[in-house]
Formats: sequence, structure tokens, C-alpha cells
Amino acid sequence: MKNIILIGAQGAGKGTYAQILKNDLNIPHISTGDMFREAIKAETPVGIEAKNYIDQGQLVPDTVTIKLVDERLARDDCKDGFMLDGFPRTLAQAEALDKITDITHVIILDVREDVVLQRLGGRIQCRNCGFIFHKTNLPPKVEGVCDKCSGELYTREDDQPEAIKKRLAIFYEQSGPLVDFYDKKGIVHHADANNPVPREVADDILKLIRTE
Ligand code: AP5
Ligand code: MG
Repeated sequence: MKNIILIGAQGAGKGTYAQILKNDLNIPHISTGDMFREAIKAETPVGIEAKNYIDQGQLVPDTVTIKLVDERLARDDCKDGFMLDGFPRTLAQAEALDKITDITHVIILDVREDVVLQRLGGRIQCRNCGFIFHKTNLPPKVEGVCDKCSGELYTREDDQPEAIKKRLAIFYEQSGPLVDFYDKKGIVHHADANNPVPREVADDILKLIRTE
């Protein structure tokens, strides 16, 4: 069983590596950010509550986020494992997750701040299937159009300089206690996410998971 958590700053590439690895590992990629963006698009009660927090680069309250993940992990496709991206982000979320399931691997994506700023500044994403591109690092074949589903590519609302600054500050503040929590369990591994080739970072993560 591979119950994996990816932890990394905004723009470290959590979503990018997860979209590669979900095929290699055959387990679902669960991104709370993606789930919230879908809820916002569908105008569900969770989406309406989350929108203001997300657009401003703040965290959605723990109670809302924990309930969302609890329900998602209960689904059948998670029975052989899952890859969590963007959850947990606070100690309270990690403690709640501990009561729901056992985590087998925590992968910390080490990345420099100048690298993440370059990545967030050029990120574009498909409005339809969510696939993540980058204007220069990972450009689509046709500008503005998704290679996978021909959907429209857009820039996320929270990829504005003010929101980026806030998101990074929250990450640097919250990640220490989070990593300590998992360090004590002896399940933490580090991957170098400065590498500009996403496939290679994904392969490094695979090695960390498979040698266990
Ligand atoms: P979320 O969607 O999770 O955003 P985030 O944490 O800010 O992380 P990002 O998605 O920005 O970064 P990423 O690491 O996935 O990078 P990516 O792969 O896209 O959350 C959004 C919001 O939802 C939060 O701010 C919060 O409000 C709310 N939320 C979510 N979870 C929550 C929780 N648990 N609790 C409370 N609130 C929560 O890559 C970035 C770019 O770089 C891409 O363009 C990509 O092509 C490029 N790139 C990636 N890797 C490489 C590489 N190795 N080389 C070159 N380019 C690369
Ligand atoms: Mg992401």
C-alpha cells in the first residue's frame, strides 16, 4: 500500500509530478487545490465558502478541508493507495489525517524561492481537465490550447504577485511543524525539485517510494 503525501512550496511542482506519477503508480492523485477549484466552478456550498480565501492566497479553514479529504479518501479508488497533493498543510490537518488513515511516505520537495517564483509566473492550466503547463518550461503545442483535451488554458486567480507572496509566507510558517510531525514517524524523504526536468524529479520520487 502506498499512501503518499507530497509537501512542497507553491510552484515546487506537486501537481506536475503527481500528474506524471499517477500513471506509474496507478493510484489517484488527490489535490485539495484542484478539488476546491472544481467546487468553485460548480458553485457548490464548499466552493462558495472557499473562493475568497483562495483568491486572496489564504488557507481555507481546517474544518472544511478535513471534511473534504475525509470523504474523498473513503472512496473505493483509494483502497490500494493515494497521492495527496496540498494536504495536510497545517498540524491540525496532519493530526486529523492520522486518525483517518496510515501514511506510508512523505515526500518533501526541496526548491529555491527564485525557482518557484519563475514557475508560478509562467504557469497556465487547462480550464477543462486541469493539466498544468508553463509558458516556457512546459509550453502547449498550440498557444492557449490544452494538448490533452483542447480545453482553454488560463492563469490561476491566485497566481498574482500579492497572493503568491501570501501563499509562500504561509507555507514557510506552517511547513516546519508539519515536517517535524512526520519526521518523528521516520517516513520523510527529500527530493530535489530545483531540477528543471519534471520527468526526472518524478523518477527520483519513484525511487524513494519503491526502495521502501
Ligand atoms: P493549491 O492548488 O494546492 O496551490 P499551491 O499549494 O499554492 O501549490 P501550487 O499548485 O501553486 O504548486 P504546485 O507545487 O502544484 O506546482 P505546479 O505543479 O502547478 O492550493 C490553492 C489554494 O487552495 C491554497 O492557497 C488554499 O487557499 C487552498 N487550499 C488547498 N489545500 C488546502 C489545505 N490543505 N488547507 C487549506 N487550504 C487549502 O508547478 C508550477 C509551475 O511550474 C507549472 O507551470 C509547471 O509546469 C512548472 N514546473 C513544475 N515543476 C517543474 C520543473 N521541475 N521544471 C520546470 N518547470 C516545472
Ligand atoms: Mg498544485
